[in-house]
Amino acid sequence: MGSIKKAVQFARTGNPPDVVEVIDLETPAVGPGEALIDIEAAAINPAHLLTLSGSYGVQPELPAIPGAEGIGKIVEVGSGVTNVKPGDRVMIPPYTGTWRQQAVVQADHILVSFPPEGDPIQMAMIMANPPTAWLLLKTVVDLEPGDWVIQNAANSAVGQYLMQLAHIYGYKTVNVVRREGFDDLVAKSNGDICVVDGADLGERVKAATGGADIKLGIDAVAGEATQHLADCLVENATIANYGLLSGAPCHLSPNDIIFRNINLKGVWLTMWLRGRDSTPEQRAAVYDELRGYIIEGRMHAEVEATYTLAQIKDAVAHALRQRGGKIVILPNG
Ligand SMILES: NC(=O)c1ccc[n+]([C@@H]2O[C@H](COP(=O)([O-])OP(=O)(O)OC[C@H]3O[C@@H](n4cnc5c(N)ncnc54)[C@H](OP(=O)(O)O)[C@@H]3O)[C@@H](O)[C@H]2O)c1
Repeated sequence: MGSIKKAVQFARTGNPPDVVEVIDLETPAVGPGEALIDIEAAAINPAHLLTLSGSYGVQPELPAIPGAEGIGKIVEVGSGVTNVKPGDRVMIPPYTGTWRQQAVVQADHILVSFPPEGDPIQMAMIMANPPTAWLLLKTVVDLEPGDWVIQNAANSAVGQYLMQLAHIYGYKTVNVVRREGFDDLVAKSNGDICVVDGADLGERVKAATGGADIKLGIDAVAGEATQHLADCLVENATIANYGLLSGAPCHLSPNDIIFRNINLKGVWLTMWLRGRDSTPEQRAAVYDELRGYIIEGRMHAEVEATYTLAQIKDAVAHALRQRGGKIVILPNG
């Protein structure tokens, strides 16, 4: 019999803090080709909260263990495993439920290794948000150094990574937030301009950029916020919608669609990870690049608080509130 460890489980969907519970879970024996990992840190992302409430794009069979990304240390490997060894610190394979103390995974699904030193919390957040920022900047329109892009929800983790990555690539960013107080965060993230959203966003952004031709709008919010981005864009530009934070449909005027050829396109990391428009080699190269930036501290996301598994209801409730950074679970304390 394997050891008994703690895990978070949800057996129904609903209000996220109400549906999560801590259970005892027996760790299965490690089979050929498998690796046993002690999970060090796992963030709570909006997608996980949508999954708990039953409204994400893919829903697991229930009961399920929430969380889809994290970092951990290999404890044991099964026969035939050559890519990792006990003691290695690795990114948990995408979409493994990570709000638990231990997981057994297919060793060949482990894409990224990290050095043993360094902040596990920053490393724990590599799987979803950094490559999403990369996809938004690198796969939607062709950008040259010096080009401008505009994004909303700029104080989110994706928003911070996007500013940092855009700066690395030489692009300039207009960063839209929904409330005052993020000038310092935008400057710290190497963003260029910070503006608060509103119906007159187009005029204010034109004044702030000196009338720059912006051909990429990056939209995590939808609703009226989509139209506000469109108001800032040059003819033939594209809006990449990748989030549904407002819960409303994307608003886009037919005047912009027909007369100015503003395009609206969806971006979803899950599809890229599943191989749409990507090969395993390309995905490995992207993660390798991002891993380097995280180790060097050039990509970093603010963290507001950490919680243990036993505090999971408080952690999830905190993640649902307005906050100044990520909520991260430390399953092994
Ligand atoms: N398509 C993909 O593949 C993909 C991949 C990763 C993430 N995402 C999406 O990216 C977005 C950001 O994720 P994250 O992990 O970076 O978020 P996060 O760090 O947890 O931050 C949440 C952000 O959402 C903002 N927000 C919440 N409700 C809002 C509303 N009604 N209107 C406007 N802004 C609102 C918050 O602003 P305040 O600080 O003002 O509350 C904050 O900036 C989410 O929508 C997530 O689902 C998509």
